[in-house]
Amino acid sequence: MNRYLQYIKPYKLYFILGPLLMLTEVAGEIVLPKLMAGMINNGILGGGGTGFIIRQACIMFGCIIIQVSGGISGHYFSVKAAVNFSADIRRAVFDKVQEFSFKNIDKFSTGSLVTRLTNDITQVMNITRMALIMAVRSPGMLIGGVIMAFSIDAGLASIMFIMIPLLGLAIFLLMRTALPRFDSMQKSLDNLNSKTQENITNVRVIKSFVRGSFETERFDEASGELRDRTLNAMKIVVMTMPVMTLAMNITTIVVLWRGGNLVMGRELEIGSLSAIVQYTTQVLSSLMMVSMMIINSSRAVASIRRISEVLETKSDLTDEDAKYKDRLITEGRVEFRNVSFKYYEKRKDKVLGDISFTAEPGKVLGIVGITGSGKSSLVQLIPRLYDPTEGEVLIDGINVKDYSLYNLREGVGMVLQKNVLFSGSIMDNLRWGGEDAPEEEIYAAARAAQADGFVRGFTDGYDMELGRGGVNVSGGQKQRLCIARALLKKPKILILDDSTSAVDTATEAQIRHAFATTLKDTTKIIIAQRVSSVLDADKIIVLNDGRIAAEGTHDELIKSSEEYREIYYSQMDREREVS
Ligand SMILES: Nc1ncnc2c1ncn2[C@@H]1O[C@H](COP(=O)(O)OP(=O)(O)O)[C@@H](O)[C@H]1O
Ligand SMILES: [Mg+2]
Repeated sequence: MNRYLQYIKPYKLYFILGPLLMLTEVAGEIVLPKLMAGMINNGILGGGGTGFIIRQACIMFGCIIIQVSGGISGHYFSVKAAVNFSADIRRAVFDKVQEFSFKNIDKFSTGSLVTRLTNDITQVMNITRMALIMAVRSPGMLIGGVIMAFSIDAGLASIMFIMIPLLGLAIFLLMRTALPRFDSMQKSLDNLNSKTQENITNVRVIKSFVRGSFETERFDEASGELRDRTLNAMKIVVMTMPVMTLAMNITTIVVLWRGGNLVMGRELEIGSLSAIVQYTTQVLSSLMMVSMMIINSSRAVASIRRISEVLETKSDLTDEDAKYKDRLITEGRVEFRNVSFKYYEKRKDKVLGDISFTAEPGKVLGIVGITGSGKSSLVQLIPRLYDPTEGEVLIDGINVKDYSLYNLREGVGMVLQKNVLFSGSIMDNLRWGGEDAPEEEIYAAARAAQADGFVRGFTDGYDMELGRGGVNVSGGQKQRLCIARALLKKPKILILDDSTSAVDTATEAQIRHAFATTLKDTTKIIIAQRVSSVLDADKIIVLNDGRIAAEGTHDELIKSSEEYREIYYSQMDREREVS
């Protein structure tokens, strides 16, 4: 809970003013029945005359004005406090997620992070607002009402005390059944959220595999569960209201019956009776409000827990301990020393085992191997998307952990296997690589990536708007734009993870040719499915099951490596079949 204090602090004033101003509303509600009683007793029945009635009415009107303005401003500041407070928490959660390593994100799943950032924060905002409004109001009404009723006629008011424990017991019993039901309702809501998220994000894949009906079934299941559990919880809620109203009405009847007798015996005035009835209603309804609040807070507690979980997670990849925070990557020599890697500590099998190699500046290092052999995992260790489990990765002789993350990633241009473009124009997207790059430089990068030609073919050219993820360009075009974007960073190390798989061989050769001139001094690491893409590399690494099976130039490997020959000839055969 302490961690949330820092988010309250900037809005301390609102957090105090909100409940405090509600106090004026309470004061008004407490005073009015008493004034009304005076008006009836002395003005109407007691013969106080028109003058008295008008005076009393003016006082009551004044009270109402104060009460209403207190209520409005109290609500206003409570809302202001709750909205600002939760917006700051939302920002903190967002910042935290930005800081997360891939590993952290894998653990939470994207869908659940989105739910936490939206739905959960909204829950917290609602409960904070309610709590601020009720914090002073409900106890105030309760205590004030009891005191006022007793000051008028203690005997009659004590009827309330018989009903309060009864009502309290009813509320307690209702809540005991309601809370667990709300808990399980929240769980199915989470489940439905993450299923929906996954479905909508991957709708293209689902359609192309004609898995629509299967997905609908899965959705129905989750949705049906939520429906049943909500109904289950609501059964209790719908009971709460009538039970409480019943209790209130019974109390009122008893008070009226007993009070009526007193009035007839001339032991109590009518005005006082009406005031006591009003106070009784106030006291009981404030009890009701508190119970409603408790029911709602159980849902908020679940949300707070989920938000705290994110805030408390330490990113397992930071540069706090970096030794050379100001150091930039100057040459780009990459060296792996006995690197092993696992995605999860607990898993026995390593994704990479005992990897050692060097990639020299200005040279091309090719990496080949069947899918799942660990190629992508290997290169992700260079810009620290993940950290190795054992061994070390060095750049220019310095451990990557000793660079600041900013400088490290500035020096490494990487085109991921599953890369995306963002909504915005092509120009905007390319500028990700270099915000202040002059246009000429952008065109040059696009030319090197063989993207300039097709971009100029679009009606809007570089101003063409891309859909989210780059849906309105072809796979090969998208890959070339991603390469251009990486080139604009002028990286010392360029990593292409299967980034030309959708580009035809001739165009791919042109890209490689362009690299030789535009990226003369850059260390180029190219992962390729097609061996033809790395034939002229200065060195090729053959990965097999997370280990380096062979290393050398194409000519050397053809002679020495069984694995390499296998990959090479199987691809040659296939190409011959195709042509
Ligand atoms: N984010 C991840 N979490 C857990 N396992 C993963 C993850 N990414 C890849 N793997 C596993 O690591 C192994 C190597 O995958 P990868 O490096 O992607 O191979 P390649 O790029 O050669 O096809 C595979 O067994 C794959 O299932
Ligand atoms: Mg891969």
